[in-house]
This record gives sequence, structure tokens and C-alpha cells, in this order.
Amino acid sequence: MNRARTDEQALVPEFEAPEFLREKCSQMQAEASYLGLGYRKARLEFEVYERLLTHFRANIERFRAEEMIDEIRAVATGTIPALIFEDESFNAQLAEELKPLHEAWAGMPLVLSYCYGIRCYQRGAFLYNHVDRQPHCISSTICVDHALNSPWPLHIENIDGRVSQINLEPGELVFYEGTRLVHGRPYPLDGDFYAGIFVHYYPADRAISAAGK
Ligand SMILES: [Fe+2]
Repeated sequence: MNRARTDEQALVPEFEAPEFLREKCSQMQAEASYLGLGYRKARLEFEVYERLLTHFRANIERFRAEEMIDEIRAVATGTIPALIFEDESFNAQLAEELKPLHEAWAGMPLVLSYCYGIRCYQRGAFLYNHVDRQPHCISSTICVDHALNSPWPLHIENIDGRVSQINLEPGELVFYEGTRLVHGRPYPLDGDFYAGIFVHYYPADRAISAAGK
């Protein structure tokens, strides 16, 4: 299957989220503040990426079907859209290590919220457009590895409604304001897999003000 996309096609989701997800998304988006950062593509340091890839490959046999998530589906019914393997201590260490990178992008001190993954999307999977739940407001999606026949971009809508598509190669990431900017991968994954890990932080001053309440 060759799903080469033109730029024009690229901006139109192939799968529109169902009504209940669109409503949930608008509600959550309305409650989230915008920090003026938007999103930006970047790349991990080679040494950090090498460690992440080694971790992925070393645990490939330990991936299991991910619990059903409303936003993730597969084209063929009855197939598993995504596998998951989580090593809490590895993830915590990675997220702490990546904190300065996110702080540099955000221009403010951050607190680690959560690191999720590695999630391994399977052939035919897609991710409806959505926003992340609070307090995951400073996030990144990191490409660990993939075996794609055609691009499977991150679809992201800027605050002004402008849509971008960002293709990530292994070792690349996108910083983004996940609670405010609608994002997803609303196209069927054409390939064997796409593995990603997701790190989430929130501003340290929010933690201070919450503690002071
Ligand atoms: Fe998300």
C-alpha cells in the first residue's frame, strides 16, 4: 500500500474523532491556559537516543496489548492498535534527564508530570485528534523507532488554527503544549510499527501556587 500524500491531502484528517471525543476535547481545551509556546521539532542527543533505542530493542519481547484508549483505534476491527512496555525506573530517569531540554524550550522551571511508553503503534492504527489531560501542559512526543512504508505524521493545530504535519525520524521529538493544542495521527499507519515515548511536565510555579492554596 502506498499512501504518498500531497501537501493538500496532508492537512485533512482521514479519521474525524467521534462527537463525544470532540466535545471532551473542546471542554478540556477551554480549561487549559496557553503559554505561548506552541510546538517545535528537535532532536535528542545521540547518546540519550542510543540508550533509548537499546532499551526498546532489549525489551521487544515484553510488549503487550495496550488497554483500550478512546483516542486510539485501528482500521481493521479486532486488531490490536498499540502495544505497550513500561519500565518505570527507566522512564523516570529519562524524563528527569530530558527536563533541562524541556525547560530550555519552555523558558521556565518545570516539574515532571509523567513519562508514558514505550507505546508501539501497529499497522493500521490511528490516533484521533485530541488534547492531553491536565497537568500535562509541556510535553514531547519522541520517536523511538519505526518501520513505515509511508509517513505517519503528527497532525498538530496551532493556536491560530493553522495545521501542521510533522514527520519524526527515530531520535527526533516534538515539544508541544499538549493540553491546549489539538494533535493526533488521524491517518492509518502504513507499515509494521511506530514506537514512541511521551514525556509530560508542568510549570514549577503552578506547583508552588497549588501548594500555597
Ligand atoms: Fe496526546
